[in-house]
Amino acid sequence: LKLLHIVNPGIEDIAALEIVSELGGFVDYEVFSGRVYHIIDSVDYDALHRLRSVNRVFQQFWDGFVGSRYSDLVNTYDELYKTLIDIEIWRYLSPTTSFRVVGERVGEHDYTSIDVSRLIGDLVIRVVEDKAGYRPRVNLKTPMVIIYVFIKQNRMSLGLSLTGSRSLHRRSYRVYDHPAAIKPTLAYAMLVLAGSRDKQVIVDPMCGGGTIVIEARYLYEDAEIYCMDINRKYLNQAMMNALSAGVYSRIVFKQHDARKLHEFGEGFFDHIVSNPPYGIRYGDQIQVRSLYKDFIGSSYRALRDGGRLTIITTEYNYVNKLLRERGFIKIHERVVQHGGLYPHIIVAEKQ
Ligand SMILES: C[S@@+](CC[C@H](N)C(=O)[O-])C[C@H]1O[C@@H](n2cnc3c(N)ncnc32)[C@H](O)[C@@H]1O
Repeated sequence: LKLLHIVNPGIEDIAALEIVSELGGFVDYEVFSGRVYHIIDSVDYDALHRLRSVNRVFQQFWDGFVGSRYSDLVNTYDELYKTLIDIEIWRYLSPTTSFRVVGERVGEHDYTSIDVSRLIGDLVIRVVEDKAGYRPRVNLKTPMVIIYVFIKQNRMSLGLSLTGSRSLHRRSYRVYDHPAAIKPTLAYAMLVLAGSRDKQVIVDPMCGGGTIVIEARYLYEDAEIYCMDINRKYLNQAMMNALSAGVYSRIVFKQHDARKLHEFGEGFFDHIVSNPPYGIRYGDQIQVRSLYKDFIGSSYRALRDGGRLTIITTEYNYVNKLLRERGFIKIHERVVQHGGLYPHIIVAEKQ
């Protein structure tokens, strides 16, 4: 089987490692493509739904090139018709199974994602009618089977969703969405890059809706985990999310100022993992810079020797400068894509 995992651009390597360790098989990816290709003998659906770094998974039927004009799209019709016959698409669409086609498109094209969905939908109906003798049912709201078409620039993939219509990153525990929430898949990636482990003391001192700490709680059975925010409202929301995730009693929540983290305990934490406000979103650049300066200074004091600070931010130049000035040693930096922005994940160690 050929699977295609859709991930946040920038964390393909982390996803590839997780995919192989959870499901086995062979993986291949291009850096920053947002896709991990995976060859596997059979699918373990439970393991698939356990993946923490992946947004969507689909079983790939076809992968090839398509031009940017509507006629280019129409020109793929014959080849796709043959492909749908080869894979016997009617085996997935019995007379009582409803389906829909979801089209997604990134790049400059003359056609829209609706054009793509409509074309592939017609094609599927035609193949099933021609070969199986009945017309499959379309259900746009609650389909049992979802056929995906992804077009990214000039590359098109057609497949069957193995993870339903919602992205896996939309964890069901999120009853409150913080206005600047980080995707749980990126929170997971930050924890992996931080090199955090079980039995360590981990804090997100600007925890917002609690995404990072909840992901940490899922990952580490015996870690001591703290969720702090200066804003009571957000802390309450983090608590509600943790309740819904079933981990509330195993996280310590505290209203606290990240600029005074060291007052909580000097040398107390093994890991500080955080997604502070970004200047662009937060408005006042000067205020954000002052927050970063005080936060990084305080983090240094709050970490034990060899402890690590892991930050995701668009203010990476300024953060790098502050880390250097404060005596941190940078051990990793990478760019990821998140909500139309390109923040960096930086891991720095207190020496
Ligand atoms: C980008 S949001 C974090 C979102 C979070 N990662 C999530 O997924 O929901 C930044 C958070 O930092 C908090 N914050 C800002 N200044 C702070 C400070 N001095 N001390 C603690 N928290 C602060 C804000 O209240 C906000 O909730």
